Amino acid sequence: MAALPLIAAAVPVAMYASSKLSLPQDAHLISSLIGSKIAYSNIAKSDTLNVTHRFDGCYRKYPDREALVFEGRSYTYRDINLASNKIGNWLLAKGVKRGDIVSLLMQNKPEFLFCWLGINKIGATGAFINTNLAGKPLTHSLKTATATMLIMDTELASQVANSLEEIQQMGYSIYSYGGPEQFDFATPLDVSGVSDADTPEHLRRGTTVDEIAMLIYTSGTTGLPKAGRVSHSRTSVGPMFWSRFYKFSEKDRIYVSLPLYHSAAAVLGMCVAWSQGATVVLARKFSATHFWEDCRRNNVTVIQYIGEICRYLLNAPEHPLDKAHSIRLAHGNGMRPDVWNRFRDRFGIPVIGEWYASTEGTGALSNYNTGVAGFGAIGHRGALASLLDKGLKIAKFDVQTEELIRGKNGYCIECEPGEPGELLTLIDSAEPTRDFKGYHQNSSATKKKIIADVFKAGDMYFRTGDILRRDKDGYFYFGDRVGDTFRWKSENVSTAEVSEVLSQYPDCIEVNIYGVQIPGHDGRAGMAAIVAKPSMNWDQFAQYALKNLPRYSVPIFIRKTPEIEITGTFKQRKVELVNEGMDPSMIKDEMLWLDGHSYKPFKAGEHKRVVSGQAKL
Ligand SMILES: *[C@@H]1O[C@H](CO)[C@@H](O)[C@H](O)[C@H]1NC(C)=O
Ligand SMILES: *[C@@H]1O[C@H](CO)[C@@H](O)[C@H](O)[C@H]1NC(C)=O
Ligand SMILES: *[C@@H]1O[C@H](CO)[C@@H](O)[C@H](O)[C@H]1NC(C)=O
Ligand SMILES: *[C@@H]1O[C@H](CO)[C@@H](O)[C@H](O)[C@H]1NC(C)=O
Repeated sequence: MAALPLIAAAVPVAMYASSKLSLPQDAHLISSLIGSKIAYSNIAKSDTLNVTHRFDGCYRKYPDREALVFEGRSYTYRDINLASNKIGNWLLAKGVKRGDIVSLLMQNKPEFLFCWLGINKIGATGAFINTNLAGKPLTHSLKTATATMLIMDTELASQVANSLEEIQQMGYSIYSYGGPEQFDFATPLDVSGVSDADTPEHLRRGTTVDEIAMLIYTSGTTGLPKAGRVSHSRTSVGPMFWSRFYKFSEKDRIYVSLPLYHSAAAVLGMCVAWSQGATVVLARKFSATHFWEDCRRNNVTVIQYIGEICRYLLNAPEHPLDKAHSIRLAHGNGMRPDVWNRFRDRFGIPVIGEWYASTEGTGALSNYNTGVAGFGAIGHRGALASLLDKGLKIAKFDVQTEELIRGKNGYCIECEPGEPGELLTLIDSAEPTRDFKGYHQNSSATKKKIIADVFKAGDMYFRTGDILRRDKDGYFYFGDRVGDTFRWKSENVSTAEVSEVLSQYPDCIEVNIYGVQIPGHDGRAGMAAIVAKPSMNWDQFAQYALKNLPRYSVPIFIRKTPEIEITGTFKQRKVELVNEGMDPSMIKDEMLWLDGHSYKPFKAGEHKRVVSGQAKL
């Protein structure tokens, strides 16, 4: 990275030399990287690494600027500062110290931000618990936080009450906050008499790159959530890059309807706003019905998405005001190619900023997409950027064994353009964005994500678990999560690709594709859980699928389902579906199977024929 400034100076000249090498795009990427790098080294030098300084900086510059709008109420930077000081002082009075962890179970509401900043202001770390959790995943998350104080949203008390005994056994004291209700098992967090003065200055100094600002949990599509350790440096430098790359300014009004307990909203929503002094319009949760109206009423300029959100918005009936808004940028992650252009055109969004990044991972990709070129891509690296940034590699991967393929020399093999493989990202503890801090108190989960001696002796990479391919023009496309691609009839079937094609069928509202084992058969057969409109004609659907997909990719089984279960971050859950398999006696949904060229009912008799090998699949 040290070589970057020199080369960047040559970029404007070189830009004209060849547009084939995508130099303008590279130049924008590289200048954003350099800008954030310089800004980061400045805050490191001035000992203001601690993420609360990002907020404090805005507060000093623009105390009376609108920082937050929530359900019609407006909060200035000063309001948030004073409210979070109160929380900080309250925590100090309760004996919470620098380095302690405080669990926070709170919906999207101003109190979330007061607590987050209050916790950081005294040098403690917040463990952001997913508010959709109950039972085992909830207690597991609280346990892995290794905290002894839980600040609980009064509206989420029943989830806590249902696992109360276990939570108390872990040594938690429970405080309720964010509403007037009272509970016999929780002490109200009452800040009415608490000072709103700044927390002591000496606590402000000496944050190191190793200190953790928050624990943010993985979304748990495949199992119990893991607590990613997010450092102060990561929380600072990430937004410094994103705000440059997507051209944020203090004039932006960012609509955040994703949950704050996850990094998309917390880091790329809130921290980006705090790096500029922008305004956040916060929604309690995403609602397809209120989305555009909220944006219009609040003069929103930037919206944040997760792929499924765009699909829900597109599924809503067209409206004369669809394009009546001041949105300049939609940024987020997981916009699928089949949705992309339709979304841009129908809602008139000038820039789609798709990015690829994970809470804990060490590499990021971003696309600044303004037209058809590069639509559907999650990122781009032209010749120059790839030369400078060698930290992203797509490596050959065996779908069946789910292992990386190593060559005769023992090293992994980079894929050719167009060839799918697992994305590996370099780990380098000297670089804040390349430093993998691991999962809190779970070294076995941490070790699983690290691979060593990958392309040369002694190097280390983070295993993203994502299958990507990169085309010859430098665009990266998302394939699947490792484990989601399955083998059928010696072919590799990508669930994401099948899902994309079938989702375009007009009577399909939602599709979830996965592979199931059939006793006596190799590989996995494709199965689709489909939410369909009442007008669905399954024969025509079969025709469509057979016409648009290779035969081996067309789902053999369908379950007609009233809804598809998603995680709190809008990712589809597949594990339960895979485990339920293809036995109609075990499945409550009505099933169909591909019998020749049409979908027919699949009941015990058909199941028997399939399992005994009498039916042709
Ligand atoms: C972070 O900064 C806040 C105030 O800006 C300070 O109170 C706190 O102690 C600092 N935390 C760490 C870990 O340095
Ligand atoms: C939105 O913009 C209009 C026109 O500039 C202005 O009159 C209105 O007050 C703004 N509303 C908000 C909530 O900022
Ligand atoms: C399927 O993927 C494997 C790697 O897991 C690869 O070796 C094989 O060639 C692929 N098969 C097809 C038909 O693409
Ligand atoms: C560590 O993570 C694994 C998943 O990778 C999980 O099964 C296990 O329960 C975790 N252990 C602890 C102590 O949280």
